[in-house]
Amino acid sequence: MTDRYAIIGHPVAHSKSPEIHAWFAKETGQNMVYERLLAPLDDFSGTVDRFRAGGGRGANVTLPFKLEAFAYASELTLRARQAGAVNTLKFEGGTVVGDNTDGIGLYRDILDNLHIPLKGARILVLGAGGAARGVIGPLLDGDPAQIAIANRTPARAEEIARQFAHAGTVRAIALADLAAFQFDIVINATSASIGNGLPALPPSCVRPGALAYEMMYGKGETPFMQFATREGARSIDGLGMLIEQAAEAFLLWRGLRPTTSSLLHKMRGA
Ligand code: ATR
Repeated sequence: MTDRYAIIGHPVAHSKSPEIHAWFAKETGQNMVYERLLAPLDDFSGTVDRFRAGGGRGANVTLPFKLEAFAYASELTLRARQAGAVNTLKFEGGTVVGDNTDGIGLYRDILDNLHIPLKGARILVLGAGGAARGVIGPLLDGDPAQIAIANRTPARAEEIARQFAHAGTVRAIALADLAAFQFDIVINATSASIGNGLPALPPSCVRPGALAYEMMYGKGETPFMQFATREGARSIDGLGMLIEQAAEAFLLWRGLRPTTSSLLHKMRGA
């Protein structure tokens, strides 16, 4: 029987993951199928149960189910525990491994695709939801000089900074106080771009030539990207992160890592 994988979400029709994994499977010669699975908002676990019973070997999980996937897993990787959320499930008999490949996806896109060093970098992460929490641990692995977290609701940024305080130089800074700082890499991990919004960010904190990374993709030039470009930054969306997190999930499932550069090139062109 062909091994089955899926992206589970609500909505899920827009997801590019089936296209990405089909490319990986072809490139690596793996016999597998990867489908879209729309789970009812109130039945994530039943949907996963049925998928497993029908031969599902693994799944990616997207909004709004990453916390439910965390609860569903019987074993969690360190990065899933740090993120407090799961975007990748692997089914092995009765065991369900929960992983989170979003942060490593961002890490690889910055280092391997964009060729921008993390070591010694001054990094600003905007936002303090699940998306922000998931990238702090992997970014710290790159040995930056510091990671600042700024959020509209400061207490949430302070909580994440406390969680990672033991692991490196992570601190919360109020958005209004950012004018006193400059950053080499600014990552928009808020959901502001969905509503065409922009965190209230002082322009001077984005140094000319900085990397401005929008974690969303498929929204064109978001207000954050436009703002950063005006300040002389290099703005990029999250397509590379999407492809890299998929490659990491593929590695977990199939034990081999697909190459990503030609796919990224093709999808950017499209
Ligand atoms: P996710 O899991 O995608 O991170 P979330 O937990 O709802 O989703 O977090 C959304 C993040 O985007 C939060 O940091 C939120 O700020 P608050 O904690 O103050 O709510 C941030 N956010 C959403 N819309 C925003 C906007 N228009 N301006 C600034 N920040 C925004």
